Amino acid sequence: MLLKFVGDTFSDICPGWVDECNSALLRLPVSCFIAEHDGQVIGFACYDTTAKGFLGPLGTAPDFRCQGIARALIVSAMHAMESEGYGYAIIPWVRFEEFYQKAVGAVSIPDSEPGVYRRLVGR
Ligand SMILES: CC(C)(COP(=O)(O)OP(=O)(O)OC[C@H]1O[C@@H](n2cnc3c(N)ncnc32)[C@H](O)[C@@H]1OP(=O)(O)O)[C@@H](O)C(=O)NCCC(=O)NCCS
Repeated sequence: MLLKFVGDTFSDICPGWVDECNSALLRLPVSCFIAEHDGQVIGFACYDTTAKGFLGPLGTAPDFRCQGIARALIVSAMHAMESEGYGYAIIPWVRFEEFYQKAVGAVSIPDSEPGVYRRLVGR
């Protein structure tokens, strides 16, 4: 259900999110939080997918945006990371900087692009 939701809703933004969610579901503890409405997935937030200590991907279904769902998911994921011993969370790919600033007080790291993704995009 989660993978179908992510594929159907976010493949145009990043087709790789389905694989990242799959890896989050396969680890223990599962590193993906899901928001549900009437038995349907309407949001998700993963951590520890591309690399340890990384937060994301994250998404809310278009009809449910601006209701605090992504904030709740990301805060839940950060609490889980804290309980697993992480002191910080890195958001490695940011589309809406203002969202992360508002939701969790994130600050940007200078010269951090493309960071770990360098190995994925060639040299
Ligand atoms: C970005 C996204 C996850 C936000 O989800 P959401 O559930 O609507 O977010 P919330 O309602 O929890 O928003 C929390 C705060 O951020 C603000 N916010 C939400 N989306 C924003 C955006 N695109 N740009 C700036 N601020 C935004 C909200 O207004 C709210 O502010 P407030 O505290 O003043 O009320 C959602 O638009 C989405 O799924 N986008 C497509 C996938 C995506 O881009 N994911 C992020 C990849 S980096």
